[in-house]
Amino acid sequence: MEHAFWHARWAEGRIGFHQDEFNSQLQAYWLGLDVSSEGQVFVPLCGKSGDMLWLREQGHPVLGVELNQSACEAFFAERDAEPVVRQEGAYRYYGCDGVELLCGDVFSLSEAQLQDVVAVYDRAALVALPPAMRQQYAQMLIEHLPAGVSVLLIAMEFEGDQGPPFSVGEDEVVALFSSRFQIRRLSERSGSTGRQDIAYQLTDKC
Ligand SMILES: C[S@@+](CC[C@H](N)C(=O)[O-])C[C@H]1O[C@@H](n2cnc3c(N)ncnc32)[C@H](O)[C@@H]1O
Repeated sequence: MEHAFWHARWAEGRIGFHQDEFNSQLQAYWLGLDVSSEGQVFVPLCGKSGDMLWLREQGHPVLGVELNQSACEAFFAERDAEPVVRQEGAYRYYGCDGVELLCGDVFSLSEAQLQDVVAVYDRAALVALPPAMRQQYAQMLIEHLPAGVSVLLIAMEFEGDQGPPFSVGEDEVVALFSSRFQIRRLSERSGSTGRQDIAYQLTDKC
């Protein structure tokens, strides 16, 4: 999607994707990834998600990337936190108490910026992107993430192709990521044709 699309969503408060509660699949499956609690977790397209706080509470330093400045600022303001703010190349950096947000385009990230990452939490990031950008996103992760990284990916399935969010099924997750990762579906599918959030664990084959 164009950047302007997302900036308009934030400016107009059309952020139905935002959850006030911690994500239930994150809480159910994260510990099963067996990620060192000292290790940095990358949260792409993070919005102002409180899940970053949950990850921080598990001990992880968190690195989020988000296009929209008001989203980054709201994450800290809603917690009465006063982040350090500075310009870091293409990104505006916000950091406070182990949560670092880079405000800018996820596709501008370098390998060096992800060098300390041990795990990735993707909720509503892959499914926010149209098909060609999903390929670009998966390729960026495959090329830039350090060896041994694990990923918790929460995708969505439903009838219809109007997005975002877009419906992304297991076949597509496998097609996008299997060159580097072993993929295990964690959630059971219900028989319902309504929207289903499906969690996957991606384990590095390296
Ligand atoms: C569907 S929301 C999900 C937010 C968050 N993961 C959550 O669970 O609440 C997608 C977010 O990605 C951001 N975004 C879209 N394109 C982006 C890009 N190219 N780089 C960084 N952030 C982007 C949008 O501004 C929006 O906040």
